[in-house]
Amino acid sequence: MRGLNGKTAVVTGAARGIGKSIARKLAQHGAEVAIVDVHPQAEKTLKEFEGLGIAARLYRANVARQAEVAETVRRIVKECAAPPTILVNNAGIIRRGTIFDLTYEDWQAVLDVNLTGTFICCKELIPVMVQAGGGQIVNVSSVAGKIGDISAAPAYGASKGGVNALTKSLARQLAEHNILVNAVAPHAIETEMSAEWDEEKRTAIRNSIPLKRLGRAEEVAETVLFLVSSGAAFITGEIVDVNGGFLMD
Ligand SMILES: NC(=O)c1ccc[n+]([C@@H]2O[C@H](COP(=O)([O-])OP(=O)(O)OC[C@H]3O[C@@H](n4cnc5c(N)ncnc54)[C@H](O)[C@@H]3O)[C@@H](O)[C@H]2O)c1
Repeated sequence: MRGLNGKTAVVTGAARGIGKSIARKLAQHGAEVAIVDVHPQAEKTLKEFEGLGIAARLYRANVARQAEVAETVRRIVKECAAPPTILVNNAGIIRRGTIFDLTYEDWQAVLDVNLTGTFICCKELIPVMVQAGGGQIVNVSSVAGKIGDISAAPAYGASKGGVNALTKSLARQLAEHNILVNAVAPHAIETEMSAEWDEEKRTAIRNSIPLKRLGRAEEVAETVLFLVSSGAAFITGEIVDVNGGFLMD
């Protein structure tokens, strides 16, 4: 018996990386998955999923644009078998630069996607979940949301701190609607986003992690799967660390 049978899950930023693993995992456990992404690789991912016999649909939309997300949600509701009751806000970007050289444009771009994009997807999907009788939202945050960014990306850390606060605010507001809102806070996961790290940085990161290795996207996906499963029915407003022990709070 696959626990997510008959459910529709929306996963943003699932063309690659952590989001792709999450989408695959939820689909393998029975959910019909709606991928929302802007990446050119998205079609390839969909083909790969089809090859695995996975039910997924692709919706090209920028999470930072309210009108695009609203139209996408209308289409998802119309085209998927069940109303979407699982939302994973995973789409994210990073722009590096200290306070001396980070531009206003970069600051705004990061806040737009990581924080406002999360808000927009919640805003557009929550009424659907309320009408369906409940749901689960999982936001993909970062260790940077708890301790600030450690690699000169202040906008990124601030955006994820905002995601954490939004997670808790919505968890309180939506409890009466049977909607659970949690986040995962990964650190040092092997993806295209982290591929920019050179070997010296990788070694330093590995050495700073008690488990002495980088994490895998699959390991974040497993945590998200747990948070949307019936086993997590009494968990809301939680920011779950997936970081090999790097931060223990
Ligand atoms: N990789 C890590 O070590 C790490 C650590 C902590 C948190 N995270 C978070 O995990 C999430 C996924 O990261 P990743 O490493 O897989 O990154 P990635 O760059 O490999 O994938 C991000 C995906 O989001 C999509 N995306 C970006 N902007 C978008 C937009 N405006 N609208 C729709 N889709 C958009 C991209 O096209 C891409 O497919 C992000 O939120 C990131 O901040 C990653």
